[in-house]
Amino acid sequence: MKAIVLHSYGGPEELRYEDSEIPEFGDNEVLVRVRATSVNPVDYKIRSGAAKARMPVDFPAILGRDLAGEVVDAGRNVTGFPKGMRVMALANGTYAEFTVAKADVLAPIPDALDFEKAAALPLVVTTGAQLIERSVKLQPGWTVLVTGALGSVARAAIHVAHRHGARVIAGVREKEKTQAAELDVDEVVAIDSEREIEMLHDLDAIADTVGGRAIQRLFKTLKPGGVIGSVLGVPEGAREHGIRVEAMMAVPDASRLYELADENARNQFTIPIARTMRLEEAAEAQRLAESGGVGGKIILVP
Ligand SMILES: NC(=O)c1ccc[n+]([C@@H]2O[C@H](COP(=O)([O-])OP(=O)(O)OC[C@H]3O[C@@H](n4cnc5c(N)ncnc54)[C@H](OP(=O)(O)O)[C@@H]3O)[C@@H](O)[C@H]2O)c1
Repeated sequence: MKAIVLHSYGGPEELRYEDSEIPEFGDNEVLVRVRATSVNPVDYKIRSGAAKARMPVDFPAILGRDLAGEVVDAGRNVTGFPKGMRVMALANGTYAEFTVAKADVLAPIPDALDFEKAAALPLVVTTGAQLIERSVKLQPGWTVLVTGALGSVARAAIHVAHRHGARVIAGVREKEKTQAAELDVDEVVAIDSEREIEMLHDLDAIADTVGGRAIQRLFKTLKPGGVIGSVLGVPEGAREHGIRVEAMMAVPDASRLYELADENARNQFTIPIARTMRLEEAAEAQRLAESGGVGGKIILVP
C-alpha cells in the first residue's frame, strides 16, 4: 500500500509518500481501507518532535488519528463489522491506504455523512466532549468560556456545553469577532483585549484550547473554586494562583463518537472543512495547517 511515512523528526519534508506493508490485524482488530483522514495539530507536533516527551515515536512511523473508511477484514473475535461497512474512529496510523484499529474504537458512519465529513470529526469531537464532560465536569446553569472558539475542538466543546445546559461564552481574537457571530453562543469576547477581559468575572469554568499567554490573562475571570479544563496541559502559573486545572488527553470512545457524528450530521453543530487534498500532499497539508488561519480542517484522501 501507499502511506505517508515519517523517518525522523523534522519539518514537513520529512513526510514521504512511499510503499509500506499493509498492517497485520489481531483477533480483536479490524483492517480498514482508509477513504479519508484529516490533519490535526498533534500530527505536526509529533512530526517536529515538539511532542516527543509525551508521545515518542518509533521510526519509521505512520501518523494520523482520524479514520473514515470501509471494513476489509476482521479478526476472529470481532463481530458486527462486516466487509464493506462504513466505519469511523479515533485511531492511529491513518495517513495510509489501509490501517488496523481495535474493533471497540470503531463506530458506524451516520448515513448522512460522506467519508470526508466523517474524517473531520473523530479527534476533535471526542476531545471537545471529554474537555467539557470529564475535565470541566460541567453542571447545568454554569457559565463557561471556551477559548479559541473558532477552532475545531472548541466548536465541539461549545455544542456539548450547550447540550449540558450551560451559558457559553466564545473567546476569540478581536479581529475574529465578526466571524464569531456565526457561532451558536450566548456571548463573544475578545480574549486579546484587556478591556473585554475586565468585563468577565465569576466564571464557573474555562474550557481552554489555546494555552500560553492567552489562558494566563484569563485566570482572574474565574470565580473562587472555578476550574480550567485544558487540552494543552497545566498553564504556567496556575497552581501559584490557586487555580484548579484539569488537563486531559483524549481517549477513544466509539459510542460517544457516534452520537456526536449523528448530531453533526443533523447540523446541530459544524466542523468546517477548509480544503480536501490528496494523501500524497500530506507534507503541504501540514505546512498549511501549521501556519494557522486555514479556517477549518484539512482532509486527506488516499
Ligand atoms: N489533549 C488532547 O487530547 C488534544 C486533542 C486534540 C487537540 N488538542 C490540542 O488542542 C488545540 C486545538 O486543536 P484544534 O484541532 O481545535 O485546532 P484548531 O482547529 O487549529 O483550533 C485552534 C483555534 O484556536 C485559535 N487560536 C490560537 N491562538 C489563539 C489565541 N491566542 N486567541 C484566540 N484564538 C486562538 C486558532 O486560530 P488560528 O487558526 O487563526 O491561529 C484556531 O481557530 C491544539 O493545540 C491541539 O494540539 C489536544
